[in-house]
Amino acid sequence: MSDFKPGLEGVIAFETEIAEPDKAGGSLRYRGVDIEDLIGQVSFGNVWALLVDGRFGPGLPPAEPFPVPVHSGDIRVDVQSAVAMLAPYWGLDQMLDIDEDQTRADLARVSVTALSFVAQAARGLGLPAVPQKDIDKAQTIVERFMKRWRGEPDPRHVKAVDAYFISAAEHGLNASTFTTRIVASTGADAAACISAGIGALSGPLHGGAPSRVLHMIEAVERSGDAEGYVKGVLDRGERLMGFGHRVYRAEDPRARVLRRTAKELGAPRFEVAEALEKAALAELQARKPDRVLMTNVEFWSAVVLDFAEVPAHMFTSMFTCARVAGWSAHILEQKKLGRIVRPSALYVGPDTRKPQDVEGWD
Ligand code: ACO
Repeated sequence: MSDFKPGLEGVIAFETEIAEPDKAGGSLRYRGVDIEDLIGQVSFGNVWALLVDGRFGPGLPPAEPFPVPVHSGDIRVDVQSAVAMLAPYWGLDQMLDIDEDQTRADLARVSVTALSFVAQAARGLGLPAVPQKDIDKAQTIVERFMKRWRGEPDPRHVKAVDAYFISAAEHGLNASTFTTRIVASTGADAAACISAGIGALSGPLHGGAPSRVLHMIEAVERSGDAEGYVKGVLDRGERLMGFGHRVYRAEDPRARVLRRTAKELGAPRFEVAEALEKAALAELQARKPDRVLMTNVEFWSAVVLDFAEVPAHMFTSMFTCARVAGWSAHILEQKKLGRIVRPSALYVGPDTRKPQDVEGWD
């Protein structure tokens, strides 16, 4: 008898040592370290190393400017295509043909270069590139990223982006990470794996949600009526972006740390976001008493990124920059496993039959 699990819910596909969201406890640990103990203590470059190597340091190498010109006007689409182009441009080998050290080196190079791409694209074509000697003065990967984008960034914005990158760096076997593991399992190159992850991340039920969150917050800011707004969305049968999660039946720990970051930094939309969150949680609880629907990472990410003056159209690309860490760790873990991912499907089509039994045969 087949054991059919819609959406693979509850199916354990791999053993992993990287991270496991704590469903009931509402916490998230990277290789056993609570994200609460990472933000503000270590840099994102070191979090990349913790996830990929299992220890802090040597971290990510300083990124050079992105080498290949790609401009469609949509930064998420551009970074996805540009990352894939790094393989032929740099002559990256397919993972089947290289060892783990080489794979790790390729992943680090692709990761930091993806960040360079996003920072350069965010700066826009109209502004001259920031001189490399100024970027080289940065102490951390995130400061470097912000300098490449803004020249001389506000240190509070660097802090906000650093907290965001660390909290969004890894989250177990989510859709985009699963995608990167599937591509890695075929023996493809590091750039192909990460580029595939970016595509999976872009959908609104995954990494595409936070820009929609900001639009919700702006709508409540205009109307001043959080309860009316929430009721309107749910009455129309739509989903409130930034609420609900496939894994957590407790508060999403990333929402908790980013709410605190937003408050500490004095994010301008903190109060309106809090009013919207309160109204949404009350209404969701009333309408879906059997399902724990709480705030997820995307909701407070939007507030923190808005504080750092990141425009909404860049939110998914910012998520990409953070998640290169978790993807890299999983790609390497998959490389060590060396087995192709090839699940089965439960067949529910017609019984065996002759062609003349098929509609349209004459
Ligand atoms: N607003 C309103 N209702 C919701 C929401 C929401 N945000 N989330 C779930 N529900 C409802 C569903 O309509 C469903 O109701 P039903 O049983 O009457 O059909 C019930 O709650 C259960 O929802 P599921 O679809 O089973 O939840 P699932 O685990 O499949 O989906 C998901 C999780 C995709 C995150 C969902 O909660 C959602 O769409 N949220 C909004 C989008 C969002 O915030 N995405 C970012 C997720 S975090 C991340 O990817 C990093």
